[in-house]
Amino acid sequence: MKFFIDTANLDQIAEAKALGILDGATTNPSLMAKEGISGKQNIFDHYAKICAIVDGDVSAEVISTDLEGMKREAHELVEIAPNIVIKIPMIKDGVKALSYLTGEGIRTNCTLIFSLGQALLAAKAGASYISPFIGRIDDTTWDGISLIRDIAEMFAIQGYETEILAASIRNSNHIVQSAMAGADIVTCPLNPILGLLKHPLTDIGLEKFLADHKKANS
Ligand code: E4P
Repeated sequence: MKFFIDTANLDQIAEAKALGILDGATTNPSLMAKEGISGKQNIFDHYAKICAIVDGDVSAEVISTDLEGMKREAHELVEIAPNIVIKIPMIKDGVKALSYLTGEGIRTNCTLIFSLGQALLAAKAGASYISPFIGRIDDTTWDGISLIRDIAEMFAIQGYETEILAASIRNSNHIVQSAMAGADIVTCPLNPILGLLKHPLTDIGLEKFLADHKKANS
């Protein structure tokens, strides 16, 4: 499973890269706003900075909701860097845009996926990635991980090559469960990734190893 970082924060992206496990990045308009990035040129400059740090794919989301607007934005965004992937919302014109951009050889990530039907339609339209939002599904008292499992089964049966990018990850367990459910990629903030490191028995064990070494060598 690939690890993407879900942030527009350059320090966090660099820290994830330094861990040696970073395969890509995703952003959305909320994440850009959170970093105080506004205005078309500033947003494009920020994408360029992210693309310079990240070796793998970087999802940049369109803000248009009509086909022509999405096409125009996509053509501008792909000029920023070769690793830009166009993030398209799961709406009717979004499906048309996925189909059009796929035909042009532009890679896409269909975002805001909450059902098997939406996943099927996005894959049929040729999306390179689909982003089911696990955390937001859990917030509604349904089970986000079960959606990942079902999509993985459906894509395997149908032979779709669209990659399942588990998004809206809220904790380390979401990462592990996504891996078990068949996600191709998880995209998450830095903290849930760092949470995978932690176990109290590791800390206790290391402390004892170092204490024993010190005793034997003093
Ligand atoms: C990623 O592509 C999504 O935009 C993101 O994971 C959404 O996460 P949230 O539900 O925590 O906002």
